[in-house]
Amino acid sequence: MALYNYVNFITACDNKGGIGKNKVLPWKIPEELRYFQSITNGHVVVMGRTTYFSIPENFRPLSNRLNLVLTNDPELLKNDHGYDNLKFFNKNYYTNSSHNKNNIPNYQDHLELFTLSILVRNNPVYCNREIFIIGGEKIYNMYYNLLNRLSLDETIVYDLQIYKIYLTYIDKNYKCDTFFPKITEDFKLTSYSDKKYDEKENVNYRFLKYEKNYTILKVQKRNILILQKILLKKEIID
Ligand SMILES: NC(=O)c1ccc[n+]([C@@H]2O[C@H](COP(=O)([O-])OP(=O)(O)OC[C@H]3O[C@@H](n4cnc5c(N)ncnc54)[C@H](OP(=O)(O)O)[C@@H]3O)[C@@H](O)[C@H]2O)c1
Repeated sequence: MALYNYVNFITACDNKGGIGKNKVLPWKIPEELRYFQSITNGHVVVMGRTTYFSIPENFRPLSNRLNLVLTNDPELLKNDHGYDNLKFFNKNYYTNSSHNKNNIPNYQDHLELFTLSILVRNNPVYCNREIFIIGGEKIYNMYYNLLNRLSLDETIVYDLQIYKIYLTYIDKNYKCDTFFPKITEDFKLTSYSDKKYDEKENVNYRFLKYEKNYTILKVQKRNILILQKILLKKEIID
């Protein structure tokens, strides 16, 4: 099993950082949807209940992906739906987990991250796949804040490694009511596509990629931590 799972964000934003209006996407750009499909295919997608139910019924759960949907609705949390690739969850999903809570710093603060990590790592098909946080506003904000404030040491503890932001920049103001968080300086723009044009929307857009800016020194430190973690696990097994 991989030592950790990469966590990425994927979003499409208008030129004010807007992502949605009246609980749906304010634009319809088929190539953008195909791009989303190609990037997330075969991986884990994490979303809020509102975003999940904004997907047309015949397209949900998203196929060939593990759909993890955050909700506190007790009915949905029963997971009586018959889909193998759909789990409604919240931070209490593993209330009886045997995870050793005493060894973990800020346990209460980060229960959200543990639950996500365990859900993915316990899944026989998706345990080694990347995780994509796909929205909406509440979910982007929560994971962006939780993951970004972790030190490198902690990301290893949580088996999660924040990695990339895939952002489609749509050059128009759609007067949205929900927004992507402001991208902080620790992410660097590493690539962008040619300018594209959607005729029906009459709008230009580009696919951008940001990466978490780990300096070489930090990466070396992370590798040492990973090594320590392997040795520690070996000690426990032995
Ligand atoms: N442009 C894009 O790339 C993009 C992508 C995705 C979504 N969107 C847009 O974003 C908008 C929706 O965003 P939103 O912020 O209103 O809704 P959301 O983030 O999709 O979902 C919010 C819901 O998720 C659940 N939730 C949130 N945090 C939770 C937590 N910590 N634990 C358990 N459950 C939690 C709650 O569900 P319960 O009320 O059931 O407890 C909450 O009502 C829509 O307009 C959608 O189209 C845009």
